[in-house]
Amino acid sequence: MLTSNMSHSGRFILTVIFLLIFIQSARGKDCVCELVNSDPDFPEFKLDNVELTASQCTENITSEKITEIDRLVLGLQHRIWQLVDMVSILEKEDNGNLYAAVSLRIIELELAEIQDLLDELNQTTSTYQQLSIQAAEELQNMQETMEELEMSDHTQAMVKQRQNELLKKELVRCQNVLNSTLPPPTLSPGHCGLGHLVGVSGPKTYSLTVHGTSYSFGAWGRDANPASGDENKYWLVVLSSSNAYGNFIRQYNSLSTIILGIDPTDTYISSSNPTTNTIQGPNMIMYANALYYNCYNTYSVCQFNLTTQSVSTVALPNDAGYNNKFPFAHLGTTYGYTDMDFVTDESGVYVIYATTSNFGNVVISKVETSNPPVLGQTWSTSLHKKTVTNTFMVCGVLYATRYLDQETEEIFYTYDTKTNKERYDLRINIKKMQTNIKSINYDPRDHLLYVFNDAYIVTYETKFGELY
Ligand SMILES: *[C@@H]1O[C@H](CO)[C@@H](O)[C@H](O)[C@H]1NC(C)=O
Ligand SMILES: *[C@@H]1O[C@H](CO)[C@@H](O)[C@H](O)[C@H]1NC(C)=O
Ligand SMILES: *[C@@H]1O[C@H](CO)[C@@H](O)[C@H](O)[C@H]1NC(C)=O
Ligand SMILES: *[C@@H]1O[C@H](CO)[C@@H](O)[C@H](O)[C@H]1NC(C)=O
Repeated sequence: MLTSNMSHSGRFILTVIFLLIFIQSARGKDCVCELVNSDPDFPEFKLDNVELTASQCTENITSEKITEIDRLVLGLQHRIWQLVDMVSILEKEDNGNLYAAVSLRIIELELAEIQDLLDELNQTTSTYQQLSIQAAEELQNMQETMEELEMSDHTQAMVKQRQNELLKKELVRCQNVLNSTLPPPTLSPGHCGLGHLVGVSGPKTYSLTVHGTSYSFGAWGRDANPASGDENKYWLVVLSSSNAYGNFIRQYNSLSTIILGIDPTDTYISSSNPTTNTIQGPNMIMYANALYYNCYNTYSVCQFNLTTQSVSTVALPNDAGYNNKFPFAHLGTTYGYTDMDFVTDESGVYVIYATTSNFGNVVISKVETSNPPVLGQTWSTSLHKKTVTNTFMVCGVLYATRYLDQETEEIFYTYDTKTNKERYDLRINIKKMQTNIKSINYDPRDHLLYVFNDAYIVTYETKFGELY
């Protein structure tokens, strides 16, 4: 599909080159005699029209349209590869007919979703092809107009030369648009002087929460932007109702007290659980003494101010997933109520979610931490939310993990919000202590990952470098 698009664009370039050649030869032929002017006036407005059409035409074939297709194709390609991986894992693990039948059903569902994506892609490329056909027609008209102009122009070689320069510029712009789609995505260097994430080591610390193994969903970490005096505090939230809902935040004054589970301070969002504006799902974050999380039973962001103990909210787009529509997952397992993931980096708070209009792929929105909070800049990725187990963000770069096996989670994907480049080829392993990672938070102050690994709270050290 792409190849035929490129050939339309190729035809466009060829036509422009043809125009240039015949303008050049017309010029060569014409710049001798110009003393007697018996011809009608040069219809300069026609040339202006051609100029206008040429620039419109390059604007219509914007890099944005090509990027949209690239994004779809890239996401699709990686889902297919992931599916192939899944099938080979299943082949190895196949230990009974029931398991095989269940897995087959999962693969069928995945294939059906990929088919839907292919249909979307077909629609997008059809629109794009239509555009190319239109552009080709316009070029045909331009060519005819130029021929007409050549007939009437016996005196204005200078004007032609000027137009020639303009057309040359358009040609270079066209080439740039085309070239910009050719190279594979590359990451720019890190944006905080840290460089790229190159490794994760640990666990550094590992302990069961005071709530015990039956509370296996939750999150913990440090406030990424603490009030003065709160710098050494740690927070912990376990989902205490149905593994899905929470209504209080536990805080400790030091790492040793949270590991030993002594001397906590609890702050309640509401006395009942769940109810309006309590916590839904484990992927929350603390920033500037406020907790950011998915409000119970809505597609809204909740901000709970621990100082005033009051909640403010802001809604995501109304096609954003919630209530298990676009959760984190790996083959056969979805993580309950993980439609929204809140992350912090050096620049503040972001919410990671998926929308129907982005085909269930991950969308990143900055959350401005005002009162009430507001949604800031938004980025659409090609990363299918249900192929991811968790995300975190460092220096404006989103990192996503997937489940490899019981012992290993892999950071496999990055999206750079400064360059809009994404890549799927990271191979950074996280050594797990338990099977399932329920949340990951990055603290920009100590560069540690705070992981909720089933009922255990675990930290990992991150390593940054320039090489990839
Ligand atoms: C560019 O797009 C506009 C709006 O879709 C259309 O009216 C115009 O004819 C197009 N121009 C060319 C040169 O294709
Ligand atoms: C793409 O859509 C067109 C109709 O819009 C259809 O004729 C064609 O078969 C579709 N191609 C694929 C690969 O689905
Ligand atoms: C586009 O890419 C081609 C091939 O790499 C190169 O020769 C050409 O100079 C590039 N054009 C521009 C405008 O960068
Ligand atoms: C929380 O409340 C305090 C006290 O009114 C205020 O200073 C602070 O800005 C609030 N935080 C947010 C994130 O709104």
